[in-house]
Amino acid sequence: MKILFAASEAWPLVKTGGLGDVAHGLTHALRERRHDVRLLLPAHPDAVAGLEGRIRRHALTLDQRPFTLIEGQLPGTRVTTWLLDDPPLFARAGNPYTTEDGAPWPDNDRRYHRLGRVAAALAAGELLPWRAAVLHANDWQTALAPFFLHRRDDRPATVFTIHNLAYRGLFPAETHIRLGLPPEAWSPDGLEFHGQLAFIKGGLAYADAVTTVSPTYAREIRTPAFGCGLDGLLRHRAGVLHGIVNGIDTTVWDPAADLHLAARYRKPDPAARAANRAALAQRIGLDDGAEDRHGPLLGFIGRLVEQKGVDLILAALPRLLANGASVALLGSGERHLEEALRQAARRYPGRVGVHVGYDEGLAHLIEAGCDLFLMPSRFEPCGLNQLYSLRYGTPPVVTATGGLADTVIDVETGGGAGNGFHLPAIDADALASTVERATAHWRRPAAWRRIQGRGMAGDYSWDASAQSYLRLYRSTSPSATPSICSAVTRTPQSR
Ligand code: ADP
Ligand code: GLC
Repeated sequence: MKILFAASEAWPLVKTGGLGDVAHGLTHALRERRHDVRLLLPAHPDAVAGLEGRIRRHALTLDQRPFTLIEGQLPGTRVTTWLLDDPPLFARAGNPYTTEDGAPWPDNDRRYHRLGRVAAALAAGELLPWRAAVLHANDWQTALAPFFLHRRDDRPATVFTIHNLAYRGLFPAETHIRLGLPPEAWSPDGLEFHGQLAFIKGGLAYADAVTTVSPTYAREIRTPAFGCGLDGLLRHRAGVLHGIVNGIDTTVWDPAADLHLAARYRKPDPAARAANRAALAQRIGLDDGAEDRHGPLLGFIGRLVEQKGVDLILAALPRLLANGASVALLGSGERHLEEALRQAARRYPGRVGVHVGYDEGLAHLIEAGCDLFLMPSRFEPCGLNQLYSLRYGTPPVVTATGGLADTVIDVETGGGAGNGFHLPAIDADALASTVERATAHWRRPAAWRRIQGRGMAGDYSWDASAQSYLRLYRSTSPSATPSICSAVTRTPQSR
């Protein structure tokens, strides 16, 4: 099957979060199943430098604007990858979406309008002698592609995946004129959202099928509490909305072969954990080394945004530390949260270790060296870190939302299948008391090894999910303009 997978990031070429992992893992899994899947990404400098295989350059023009598609392979895979090289738009180092100060690039509308245009034209066979049966677009950065295709007679089917509904790609009203979008775009049935232009509606309203990354999140986003003002539209499209949980790349995240670890292991192994804990303690500035007599070492990795609930960890610190725990935190994101993490490290030297920044090696070591992995997310479409932590024998402590609810089974209510711990509510007290509950289990080594073993034995590979996507691709055909009902968007929530 010929599939064009369009995304704004793919590990290891460019990654800020889970979308990068998924773009790599899913395309790799589809290619290994002999499907002709191709990946389209923006040509950021690191992506150009990292592209592998025989490199070819296709000089092209679309809408009177010249650009180049740089063709090569996604490292570690046989996935043909096209990088959209349009230097004024994408030749920027650092975070793909923001300036060094953390503000969105002021021309993000033009940048991702262009990515959507090129994705649509490429999938339709207008640019190269290759045409997709399915265009699979992801998140708001590529969401205009289904919109651009929907009126064409001879077009690929379109699938749009919501990785995170909180990012809607909102721009001021006049943007639709500046971008030269057709007048039909400017209506509540189109891309308008309460007087603004919402790129994500290009996918939500116009794709033939819409997916999100867990069954629970697929239900949650049809409610006002999680719908970010788009729950009405999503209820309207419920018939074509599917939840498919993400897989993980089990060769990249493999505790038996992970070169970032001080000690590798295949099953729960206290000696390996002690070695990894000591290495982590040294690396992140904790006093305790391998010494775990005081309490468990708690880990957190993530983008520092409200979604991830890192503020709840900070608020719970006095209680967590009073009970003997130590904490290792890795993240980057909003400046006030970065500063709050640094402050915590200064306030509790040796007990709270912090690394502000993006560090893949350290992320692997945290998964292996901690005793419990904290993910108190306020919402979580799927989440990958809890899957990595299960595979690394580090039981996760999570809120029961989205993909966390679908992949983590509470030890006390899971009837012998438990592999982690659910918070009873989303606040700092609930987090502290759940860590205390988990710590009581951790203090019983034999029972703890069984909990770790259940997590490690789970199948988190892409096998089942890639099959689900294939079934969806096969059953999706270009429909007439998806019917859109008016008044299906609501006032935005304050998220
Ligand atoms: P999200 O996509 O919302 O950020 P996920 O849990 O799906 O959350 O995926 C996050 C991915 O990004 C994981 O692979 C995680 O290890 C990685 N990650 C996030 N922040 C960092 C960081 N500061 N350093 C290294 N890896 C990080
Ligand atoms: C998003 C979500 C995360 C999900 C990831 C990949 O960034 O926040 O929950 O795992 O996308 O789908």
